[in-house]
Amino acid sequence: MKFFLALGFLVVCCSALSTKQQRRFPDDFLIGTATASYQIEGAWNEDGKGENIWDYLTHNNPAAVKDGSTGDIAANSYHNVERDVEMMRELGLDVYRFSLSWSRILPSGFANEINEAGVDYYNRLINEMLKYGITPMITLFHWDLPQKLQELGGFANPLASIWFEDYARVVYTNFGDRVKHWITINEPREICYEGYGSVHKAPILNATAIGTYLCAKNVLIAHAKAYHLYNNEFKDKQGGQCGITISANSFRPFTDSEEDHAATELRRQAEFGLYAEPIFSEEGGFPKELVEIVAEKSAKEGYPWSRIPEFTDEERELVRGASDFFGVNHYTGFLVSANEQISDRPTIPILPDITVGNYIPPEWPQSASYWLTLSPDSIYDTLTYLQKRYNDPIFYITENGWSSPPTNGLLDDDRIRYYRAALESVLDCLDAGIRLKGYMAWSLMDNFEWLEGYTERFGLYEVDFSDPARPRTPRKSAFVYKEILRSRVIDHDYEPNTTVMTIDEGH
Ligand code: NOJ
Repeated sequence: MKFFLALGFLVVCCSALSTKQQRRFPDDFLIGTATASYQIEGAWNEDGKGENIWDYLTHNNPAAVKDGSTGDIAANSYHNVERDVEMMRELGLDVYRFSLSWSRILPSGFANEINEAGVDYYNRLINEMLKYGITPMITLFHWDLPQKLQELGGFANPLASIWFEDYARVVYTNFGDRVKHWITINEPREICYEGYGSVHKAPILNATAIGTYLCAKNVLIAHAKAYHLYNNEFKDKQGGQCGITISANSFRPFTDSEEDHAATELRRQAEFGLYAEPIFSEEGGFPKELVEIVAEKSAKEGYPWSRIPEFTDEERELVRGASDFFGVNHYTGFLVSANEQISDRPTIPILPDITVGNYIPPEWPQSASYWLTLSPDSIYDTLTYLQKRYNDPIFYITENGWSSPPTNGLLDDDRIRYYRAALESVLDCLDAGIRLKGYMAWSLMDNFEWLEGYTERFGLYEVDFSDPARPRTPRKSAFVYKEILRSRVIDHDYEPNTTVMTIDEGH
């Protein structure tokens, strides 16, 4: 008996040891953090920057923002290049994803006039990062559209794809000698559904049921044009890769019934399929089931055409396959039911054209954001779905993170629990052979959380928004993240000494 017990103990120990050894992030797996221009830069009208739709919204409609705040100063990153890169070095980041402010580079939105001071800011940032071996990953557009372009219809105007292509050319020309990872557009769902179809993001058009689809088509064509421009005119010389980032959360059926499975699939199509299908599916075009539903509804509503626009054959081919990788912003998960009544807590809003129920188990921990809970294994669930559906693309998780209220301070064990769980799920993806090449935590530092203002904090570093210099202080989660980057494993028992943050040798 004793012998068998001892043998059992040995087997458990060895397998735990070998699992631990296997569960290592590969050296070429890029671990980093992410931010976006309007959320951190500030300097909203300095050195020739033009007005964008978030400047316009926060200045003209302050009641739309929960705490009436603006991104005028935000985390003051425009004046903090060295400190921002110092934080990246403290963490030991492989990669840092940030976005360019279109109206800082092209004040009117058009490519006739380049603001050299804006180009210079990004050059300083990129060069400072490269000095310390940190890979820049740049998003061309993270929601801060030049206001003049919005006045011309923004992404409801088909010409937006040409304006975006012109802007992309300026960007590749100025930074492409040093930047090899490009993301054209961040989260089309949030741009189109939240900004054009409803009132959750600028330009809060609330053009329900028309705006979302019109925007979706034009955003996808804009992305595709910028992608092909890179491929045709820059890739040979510069040797980088270009993709898009789409928000994809996990949707799992509430029960195993056929109806709940069907409702879940429909929900996925409405949430991310609308944007992913035209690029990553074999046939291209918008998701078929959604197209049928909207066409039928439009006819019943008396429209002479379907509210969901068609792609011409040429447009469909332009968009199909137009991405070197699938950037995924992933935060949370939901259970979906065919029964609408199941819905309990408020949740991320769903396209009005689909009616399904939504359920979040009470035991899933809640963050400071109403839509964000810790949903177990949600990264693995989402990426295995996307891998199968879209024929095994290369993935980056370009955002993943947890919010806390401003009063929470520096001891953020809830955020640590979230990141450890998320990164275990990332390792499950790698074990399963998913071609996931990187992971970026949202966010390097606290920032302007859109219509929630500064009431929700996502930073590994806390920013003091009451101090004009916006000093940054590492939270406990920053120390834990640093240790994961250093060791390339997740040690659930690691308790950091949070008194002094240092820069390790080689960073
Ligand atoms: C995704 C967006 O890209 C980012 O701007 C936002 O702050 C985070 N989600 C958190 O809501």
